Amino acid sequence: MHNLAIQKLALFITTLHSVLGADAPSKFPIPWDEAVVKAKTFVAQLNTSEKVGLVTGSYGSSRTLPCVGSIAAIERVGFNGLCLSDGPAGLGRSDGVSVFASGITVAATWDRRLMYERGRAIGEEFRAKGAHIHLGPSCGPMGRHGRGGRNWESFGPDPYLAGIAMNETIFGVQSVGVQATAKHYLGNEQETQRVATTAPDGSVIDAISANIDDRTLHELYIWPFADAIHAGTASVMCAYNRINGNYSCADSDTLTTILKDELAFPGYVMSDWDATKSTVGTANAGLDMEMPGNQTISGTYYFGDSLIGAVEAGTVTLDRLDDMATRVMTPYFRLGQDDGFPTPDPSSGGVFLTYIYGHESPLAGIYPAVPALDVRGDHAQGIRELGAAGTVLLKNLNGILPLRNKTSFGLFGNDLPDPALGSAYLVYGDDATGNEMGTLNIGGGSGTVRHTSLVSPLEAIRKKVQSLDGRMQWLFDNNEIADGRFRSIYPVPEVCLLFLKAFATEGIDRPDLDFQWNATRAVESTARLCPDTVVITHGPGVVLMPWANNENVTAILAAHYPGEETGNSITDVLWGSVEPSGRLPYSIPRTAADYGPPIVELPSNVTDSNAWQSNFVEGQLIDYRHFDANNDITPLYEFGFGLSYTTFKMGHNLTVEVVKSPLDPKADKRHGIAPGGLVDLWSITTTATIDVTNTGSRSGFAVPQLYVSLPQETTPRGTPLKVLRGFEKVHLAAGETQTITFSLKRRDLSYWDVNEKSWIIPDGTIGFAAGFSSKDLRAKAEVAVLL
Ligand code: BGC
Repeated sequence: MHNLAIQKLALFITTLHSVLGADAPSKFPIPWDEAVVKAKTFVAQLNTSEKVGLVTGSYGSSRTLPCVGSIAAIERVGFNGLCLSDGPAGLGRSDGVSVFASGITVAATWDRRLMYERGRAIGEEFRAKGAHIHLGPSCGPMGRHGRGGRNWESFGPDPYLAGIAMNETIFGVQSVGVQATAKHYLGNEQETQRVATTAPDGSVIDAISANIDDRTLHELYIWPFADAIHAGTASVMCAYNRINGNYSCADSDTLTTILKDELAFPGYVMSDWDATKSTVGTANAGLDMEMPGNQTISGTYYFGDSLIGAVEAGTVTLDRLDDMATRVMTPYFRLGQDDGFPTPDPSSGGVFLTYIYGHESPLAGIYPAVPALDVRGDHAQGIRELGAAGTVLLKNLNGILPLRNKTSFGLFGNDLPDPALGSAYLVYGDDATGNEMGTLNIGGGSGTVRHTSLVSPLEAIRKKVQSLDGRMQWLFDNNEIADGRFRSIYPVPEVCLLFLKAFATEGIDRPDLDFQWNATRAVESTARLCPDTVVITHGPGVVLMPWANNENVTAILAAHYPGEETGNSITDVLWGSVEPSGRLPYSIPRTAADYGPPIVELPSNVTDSNAWQSNFVEGQLIDYRHFDANNDITPLYEFGFGLSYTTFKMGHNLTVEVVKSPLDPKADKRHGIAPGGLVDLWSITTTATIDVTNTGSRSGFAVPQLYVSLPQETTPRGTPLKVLRGFEKVHLAAGETQTITFSLKRRDLSYWDVNEKSWIIPDGTIGFAAGFSSKDLRAKAEVAVLL
């Protein structure tokens, strides 16, 4: 067996062992309908205020629930309460936890196995810490705007890739009995004015309204949430912003009509923190749980006593309250959390105090600091592997990488050493303070995770260079580099490794798409010094690389935010013990203006409470769909692109077979409805097959991709020229050929008809194209699917 395959098998067995060896019950998940029966029986024994207690949160309300949100225990019936914790890349605000790769890195792997294993490892840590509910994964924002402050938490702007990542992550997290929360539903594409503000005259200026048409919602922004529901997500978090004029947590169209009715979501809708704006309006629109309820920052909350009052007054029916409470309890029973879930680690409360973002903890002074339970297990191994697998090789001239026969290295850039300010990105909403010196392996805000362990690039590379008996010289101050003050550098290194970074955080959008701290000038100046300059970037996704074509920049590696093993992952890649097998899950434009719709930014003195409107006029045409529609704008590096240390070829014969034929054009209820929507939509209707060969002299991972073009003539305006509808990550030995089969579901070939309110397979021929990126298409076929 190949070495890598042995390593993978060993990793799989270890993971399996550590999971099965744990005290997790093995009987879950039980079927949804059985869980609903248990939840209803449970709720039936409660009085109104206990039911309201189940749907009204708080910050850790007692010493036993030191979490960012909690549902209080009801001791009378043996319910110990629920602990909710951030976030998508690991258990934030705690010690003794792993910092996993962030969502954008995960998407860049295009690797279902790694997506699942990461989800499972995250779930294991949540479980071991006694956190019932994981506040992740995120597929909102998707990344409509390159500058979006939270894009890195999600899986990128393609709904198909994001949907697969949601699916795998949720299966992983929930496989160990921890509830997943798909967030932020819906249209939370910009941080600017994500929440309402108060004008100088005291009037309220409402949050941004994302105005999105029905088809775009279905085919783009809701698509990965449908995957999440299909995968069985326990919860969906509604967002801060408004959607089509209504606050997201009060929008019955998207919460009830779409999420609960059309997509048959059986779990509960939880509000983002402080995103609930009313009692009756939200409860009746479909909100099931207010967070953080009785301890909101503003001090105002809408469930609790107000909800009891509304039920007494009949403005919210008792049936609806029962439905809310039943929905909250259903995933708890489905995932066996009634069967011996670990008690929350009280240390999380201690760390919580010293690690608060943006506001004083209501718990300040309550908890003494206690030593943390260390739940990291062997997760560093998987984090290291994923970090390398999510690194994208964008340029590699003269085979400079992997590094061979070099012994003299220049290590340049402020992204190399340990962060000067310690083990957490504490600063909330300010990218300049505190984060200048030190490597960036995750973004800021509620999605960050504090480091119990961190292997910086400097540490790992130093070890590597020592093992080669080589030497390294360094310069970390970007200003010195930018100004060409290489005073301490002698002789000129054989290779200069320049590490750049771009910070992004919840709460504000990025000021621009640039790498920060004089990065562009630092590249130009390093390239003048060093004919072999390798640029390694740590960033949140879409970035500008105006220096990419500099001929002395011989290689570029986009390493995203890879988590705590960042140094080891990049060292593995640089010296080639592992391939940089990532592919871009977004496009890199030549200029910021090329990327698409701008963020709405209004002057701070607006007085119109309804002024903040974001019209999604581009419809589905974001990222590569936007570049396809405007073929005069070419990206610098396109969606799906990434080089390898070997080369691949694809056969010319793309064979497409219709599995179920003839097909009714319209998906209907014949086969019923289940979480995720019409069962029909999830059945395989078509397969496409292509050969891929490794034509190089070393083994490597190919990522063949399948794009589908629905006919423009028989679909309404706005149909993208092509959309991703299949991919595989396949390991090929030198010279090896494999036949790849993509399986397409009915939904993959349908568009959302806004009049019929139905998914429809269009008349005419559907185009299929296989290739190695959204621009590098090697084989095409055309088939009429509806016969
Ligand atoms: C964020 C959520 C997060 C919550 C709890 C909010 O500000 O938008 O993503 O889960 O806080 O920390």
